[in-house]
Amino acid sequence: MKFTTTRPKISQFTYLDFNATTPPAEFLQTKVVEWLHQWGNPSSIHQAGRGPKTLLRESRQKIAKFLGTDSLEIIFTAGGSEANNRAIRGSFDYAKAHSNPRNEIIISSVEHPSLMKSAQSLVASGARLHILPVSREGQIDLKLYRSLLSEKTLLVSVMLANNETGTIFPVKEMAALAHEKGALFHSDCVQAMGKIEFDVKELGLDLASFAGHKFYAFKGVGVLFSARGTNLQTEIYGGGQERHRRGGTENLLAICSLAEMTAFKSEIFEQGQRVQKMRDYFEAEVLKQISEVSITANQNLRLPNTSSLVIPGVDGETLLMNLDMRGFGASTGAACSSGSPEPSPALLAMGLARYEAQSSLRVGLGWSTEESEVENFIENLAAVVEHLRSIKNLKSKIYSEARELHA
Ligand SMILES: Cc1ncc(COP(=O)(O)O)c(C=O)c1O
Repeated sequence: MKFTTTRPKISQFTYLDFNATTPPAEFLQTKVVEWLHQWGNPSSIHQAGRGPKTLLRESRQKIAKFLGTDSLEIIFTAGGSEANNRAIRGSFDYAKAHSNPRNEIIISSVEHPSLMKSAQSLVASGARLHILPVSREGQIDLKLYRSLLSEKTLLVSVMLANNETGTIFPVKEMAALAHEKGALFHSDCVQAMGKIEFDVKELGLDLASFAGHKFYAFKGVGVLFSARGTNLQTEIYGGGQERHRRGGTENLLAICSLAEMTAFKSEIFEQGQRVQKMRDYFEAEVLKQISEVSITANQNLRLPNTSSLVIPGVDGETLLMNLDMRGFGASTGAACSSGSPEPSPALLAMGLARYEAQSSLRVGLGWSTEESEVENFIENLAAVVEHLRSIKNLKSKIYSEARELHA
């Protein structure tokens, strides 16, 4: 099957924000019509429930195989945020309810808000939270990490790949160190899924989060991998779905869409290489054509599709609006913070100054991105930056002349 995605219906729109979400794969449009006939509740005993139950079971098996795990270790959620919340809060609440003396949690300083805020919320319930710094180059200080691990550590959570810079963290090594101290290890793999090849068992994870909409499937499905023997407190009570681990009727269409995408596992490496070539070309050209630009964490191991730039003298939001008017969709930092004048907390945590984080641009390429789109984008980005910088220079000239006049 050839991979294509639903192209946005807006003419001449180039989507370069694949870390925010991905357009669903085109073939899912016909598949969804088939699945709609299976409208019954998968939990029903009667005939209407049988087809949906089978679809759900088969989807779970496909997704488990894709992740390198077992069907029993998959819990469907509504998305990546819910999976993160459940992993962190569920393990802490279980430990507390069973009088486990471990109460310390270690996370990195660049985690997604759904993880960061979940961990912070537990401090009021008695958790001791350690936040591991990440350098501007995207590196975690493993010596400091080792020194924080102890017999009191309940859980460590470090993302496999960062959503803003694409930095890939040494999760396998960190999980092994956590296990030496008897702690659990969770990884937010939401951005890594479909962009790099990995296997949760090979990485040694106890818990991991995923979201379908970052991998060309529908929105509304996430996966929490919970290795056998990892105990979580149930946080959504309901009719016993997901083996009593997450109540609520399953979002079958979205689950099936993610299961279908697992058939593209063998394309991940090849697409990654193709996309990385375009990303590297983009960065080389931007450095050549736009003065003073820097690329965040480009010396580190990164996702092949992601580029995070700092473009001094340009306000990120203004840049985005201008690019949008020219038909390009990119982002400043995380999509969920768009519309907020606050700079990205993750970029600030990496040591970027406020003005640098406010001048940042995130470009995320995808499986349907074409070389001509990247070429076109570079040309337009250079033109917009020049335009915005010239307005800024003109403004400062006018202000300084006015000041001299009134001095
Ligand atoms: C690293 C990371 N984790 C979690 C999430 C949250 O996923 P969802 O939007 O499916 O709730 C995102 C979304 O951008 C993300 O990038």
